[in-house]
Amino acid sequence: MGFAGRSIISLHDMTAADLEVIMDTSGRIKAGRETGFLQGRTIAVMFFEASTRTRLSFESAIQRSGGTVIGFANPASSSQSKGESFADTISTVTGYCDAMVIRHPVEGSARLASDIASVPVINAGDGANQHPTQTFLDLFTMKESFGRLEGLHIGMLGDLKYGRTVHSLATAMAMFGARMTFISPHTLQMPDMIKRELSQAGVSFREVRQPEEAGDDLDVLYVTRIQRERFGDPQEYESVAHSFRVTADTIRGLGGRVLVMHPLPRVDEIAEDVDRLPNAIYFRQAHNGIPTRQALLGLVTGGLS
Ligand code: CP
Repeated sequence: MGFAGRSIISLHDMTAADLEVIMDTSGRIKAGRETGFLQGRTIAVMFFEASTRTRLSFESAIQRSGGTVIGFANPASSSQSKGESFADTISTVTGYCDAMVIRHPVEGSARLASDIASVPVINAGDGANQHPTQTFLDLFTMKESFGRLEGLHIGMLGDLKYGRTVHSLATAMAMFGARMTFISPHTLQMPDMIKRELSQAGVSFREVRQPEEAGDDLDVLYVTRIQRERFGDPQEYESVAHSFRVTADTIRGLGGRVLVMHPLPRVDEIAEDVDRLPNAIYFRQAHNGIPTRQALLGLVTGGLS
């Protein structure tokens, strides 16, 4: 399926070939070979939940590609604060733009928006479910670093239960024959639904509790914070908060060559001494949000093919 007019809601709707198109297009944009492709197009960026990287990189991506941004960073400044429904907001804004980017705390909201809107909808994170555009920049950063995705061994550390970035990433890495080691406290394990999906696809994964149990052949240690905002019970959060911390010693213990990634924001799960190591690529990763989001917007609006 081509990209023009298509909503991007979940990695489950995508193929490895789709992901290759996004990475190749991102590479051309990063090399300066595609410009001005959102000229004359208006993109609505509507954030019903907090963000720094996703919102600002989308807005920067739109402006750098010649497009115009409308939207809001906080639902309190929209008519939702007067009682307007989500569905009515989408039915209205679809007439004001050529594509919309939505972050919402409720799982399934982006899918609902795509059922209502007549323009492409991009899911910028829906609850603990999916964060596809984070995965696009994660894949692009790994391919930029290793020249390939096939056969990489990736350790995913942290809150694998509520972390939407790792849910999308696991589905994507499975398409490239990656090996995965899931590292988390018992109560924050990767959801059974995703493990079942990986097993059915014949993907190799194992589960351990601490990074040092992951072995010394990891290519990537992908760290995530504990998602405090998703816990119903603050005591449940406190019982797992600060249960792991990646330091320079952790990196040495993993063989010293592993690249450390993180979708950010960081709380305390990576010590700041790691930032100075060549292994730490999380800020380059965040900056790759620009070409990958430019690529996606260009493709879904038909400005790029
Ligand atoms: N990685 C990510 O989604 O960051 P923000 O919450 O700051 O957008």
